[in-house]
Amino acid sequence: MKILGIESSCDECAAAVVEDGQRILSSVVATQIPFHAVYNGVVPEIASRKHTEWIYGVVKEALDKAGLGPGDVDGVAATAHPGLLGSLLVGLSFAKAFAWARGLPFIAVNHMLAHLYASRLLNDNMEPASSVPADRADVPYPFLGLLVSGGHSIICRVDDFDDITVLGTTIDDAVGEAFDKVSKHYGFGYPGGAVIDKLARSGNSEAFRFPMPKLDKGEHHYDFSYSGLKTAVINQLEQFRVANGGEKAAAGMEQANIAASFQKTAVEILLRSLFRAAEDTGLKTIVAGGGVAANSYLRARLAEQQDLRCIFPPLDLCGDNGAMIAGIGYQYLVRGERSPLSVTASARVGGFKRRYP
Ligand code: KG4
Ligand code: ZN
Repeated sequence: MKILGIESSCDECAAAVVEDGQRILSSVVATQIPFHAVYNGVVPEIASRKHTEWIYGVVKEALDKAGLGPGDVDGVAATAHPGLLGSLLVGLSFAKAFAWARGLPFIAVNHMLAHLYASRLLNDNMEPASSVPADRADVPYPFLGLLVSGGHSIICRVDDFDDITVLGTTIDDAVGEAFDKVSKHYGFGYPGGAVIDKLARSGNSEAFRFPMPKLDKGEHHYDFSYSGLKTAVINQLEQFRVANGGEKAAAGMEQANIAASFQKTAVEILLRSLFRAAEDTGLKTIVAGGGVAANSYLRARLAEQQDLRCIFPPLDLCGDNGAMIAGIGYQYLVRGERSPLSVTASARVGGFKRRYP
């Protein structure tokens, strides 16, 4: 069964064809990063306009690369939430129209659940660097999920592809958002995560000691926070300005050291809650997803945990892509679920169960 997946929740215009929920036949991601980089962040109006311009071409390319015509797919899936409303509407409307015109089953999916699904995809048709151990695709439930993107950060118990219970989440900024904001203030570039990750490689992560939030009590046992860290790192910038005679903000090694020290603290904040959840639930398998799952320090720290099995999507499936949408869409469709064409987009993640310790 071949499913066309369409993703347009933020600044990637993406479409893919996935067979039987696992095998990627094609995956096209048209990034809008150059259009937003000049503003140091995503401009919603530009994003939705670019999606409108590109969606037809991106879907066509995904079908062409899979060697399929529009009549050869068995269903259509699209992201309906969460994300930027105007951007979501473009992909969702296109997907609904495509499904309606061809009389195909249609399913609207949650972007965060799709990120969690990404590690189940096998991309043997893509870059060799993305090849993955086959056992990654069949991780048995339950396990712990670590969902880390630009807008959301969730530690959850996962009982099925669409059944998660949120154990912990951020009480303020998402982890990717903290990377983006620090990068913006230091002028490192956009989006911040990948830039800081690269810069940090030549830096000393012990150069600066930034605060870890104290959120270990009561209902916040697995929650975390990034606003304190973000503020401390941005305040450091002022000190650089003063030290450098009000001129240059931070230069050379200062930049690399800031990046490394910030990245280390940001990841340790996440891991403290994650390890606590693993300990308390007894769940020893962790599946990560979302843009921040590409972070090299996070991947290295989890890889060194002897008592945990940590599964990451390949790098090209951590960020937004259509394959994860097609993959999870297949799971709903084989279960017989369909979305009405009246379904609409929503900016909010909504609807997840929450369990307090
Ligand atoms: O999942 P995603 O592509 O889009 C959303 O659903 O938000 O995640 C984007 C986020 C951005 O905040 C970006 O800075 C971050 O993922 N990111 C990273 C890395 N690559 C992307 N954060 C840390 N390290 C990375 N290597
Ligand atoms: Zn995402």
